[in-house]
Amino acid sequence: MASILDKINQYTEELKHWNPENAEKVEEFRLKFLVSKGVLKNLFDEFKSVSSEEKRALGKVLNEFKQRVEQAYNEKKEALGTTDQDKKNTSKIQDLSLPGSGVEIGSRHPLSLVRKEIVEIFKKLGFTVAEGPEIEDDWHNFTALNFPAEHPARDMQDTFFIKKQEGNDIALRTHTSSVQVRMMESGKPPFRAIMPGRVYRNEAISARAHCFFHQVEGLYIDEGVSFADLKQTLYHFVQELYGEGTKVRFRPSYFPFTEPSAEMDISCTICKGAGCNMCKGSGWVEILGCGMVDPNVLENSGIDSKKYTGFAFGMGIERITNLKYEIKDLRLFSENDVRFLNQFHTELL
Ligand code: PHE
Repeated sequence: MASILDKINQYTEELKHWNPENAEKVEEFRLKFLVSKGVLKNLFDEFKSVSSEEKRALGKVLNEFKQRVEQAYNEKKEALGTTDQDKKNTSKIQDLSLPGSGVEIGSRHPLSLVRKEIVEIFKKLGFTVAEGPEIEDDWHNFTALNFPAEHPARDMQDTFFIKKQEGNDIALRTHTSSVQVRMMESGKPPFRAIMPGRVYRNEAISARAHCFFHQVEGLYIDEGVSFADLKQTLYHFVQELYGEGTKVRFRPSYFPFTEPSAEMDISCTICKGAGCNMCKGSGWVEILGCGMVDPNVLENSGIDSKKYTGFAFGMGIERITNLKYEIKDLRLFSENDVRFLNQFHTELL
């Protein structure tokens, strides 16, 4: 085995003839001599095991050799510049003042935005928010709401039944009116609440219909609540949502759970009543159903209909959103196409 001194002499000879022509050769030199498993480190490791006498003589030689290696490297490095790899590394961090790459943030779904807006308006009028199950029994979705068994009114809503059950089938709720029943059953009047949520109807999916959609229903029950309260509440709601000056009109209608019942139209938000595609030229668009809660419904839920009266209303959030953003195809709401969703990026409130 060659002694340390022999090796130093041999490397010193090599060093004399070392004349690198480019930066890559300088880098090769560094990798041979200066890295943690390189020549210098190995020599110093070997040096540890020599006798202390030898150490005295050899220490100086070794240190001088080390300085020569480092000096040679530094000189050539300076003269020949940096390697391609170095250039790549430095170009990456060239300008530390550049802004960082942005972090993408999501946006609220248009239906969530509009639901939130609706909820805020009613909250200011003292309405609380109530929720209930999407899988409902016949009693809460139909019977308690005055849809008698076998009554044709049940066909008004095509229902997804889940399970046949003697006298009380299980289904996906077709409206959030079921939450009104649950609320009345479990508490005492007065009630003033809105019920947002997803509902299901067995309809073929198209631009104008879907097998699920979203509703906000409302219920107000107390002593002496009248149709005038209903009208004023909904009138206020429309002014807040679509702006001052939006007109409303009520048309007589039929729902099993309200008497009298009405549908409410507003002046078309797109053409302001002049007539357009959205309102089919009429200047009016329907936005909700409403009415005075039928005394049968109150009694079914254990509320004294002689003492209390109330009103209820229900609207589809998709419909309200269409009239705000002119979204013509219902399917867009559930396809989760980011090109659609990104358009609501600015509306993060
Ligand atoms: N539940 C009705 C529907 O889904 C809407 C409605 C609610 C109508 C309350 C009147 C009163 O169509």
